[in-house]
Amino acid sequence: MRILTTTILAAFLLMSCVQEEVVEEIYEGPETDFAVAIIHPTEGNDISGVVTFTQTDEGVRAEATVSGLPAESLHGFHIHEYGDCRAPDALSAGGHFNPTDMPHGGPTDTERHLGDLGNLPTDEDGVASIDFVDEQLSLRGEHSIIGYGVIVHEQRDDLVSQPVGDAGPRMGCGVIGVANPEF
Ligand code: CU
Ligand code: ZN
Repeated sequence: MRILTTTILAAFLLMSCVQEEVVEEIYEGPETDFAVAIIHPTEGNDISGVVTFTQTDEGVRAEATVSGLPAESLHGFHIHEYGDCRAPDALSAGGHFNPTDMPHGGPTDTERHLGDLGNLPTDEDGVASIDFVDEQLSLRGEHSIIGYGVIVHEQRDDLVSQPVGDAGPRMGCGVIGVANPEF
């Protein structure tokens, strides 16, 4: 009887060890070096665009082309805390992506929301094309931007006003997804 009890106990201990190992494997999100967001217009607007994010050794390279914006103007450009464009005004995307609990700022500030990408500048045709590397963004790990929202605003982000840079209503909304590297 004692041998049986010991055997059962040993088996039980072994099982709990195995269970612990499984728990230790923390899911850190999809492994990708390439992400994409398609910008859709909010109600009453007619903008469209594509934003790609590529993981590099220096950070994340962001390339965006957005058209249908007012000519020669600046438009707040952020990653927002929800990848949710359901509301006609895109307010469903929530506030700025801010996993490090910082105040709003500009892309080169050390104190900024991780989602603070600054502004999109448009040309005389109302098209914005930008290409920059953001040293603070990542497509991997705890603060990965995959799955969150991208918002283009009606007004300029002043990079200072709290909590969102006074950038006004949302003209376009997209969701950052894992991109097809062969497309
Ligand atoms: Cu925003
Ligand atoms: Zn912000």
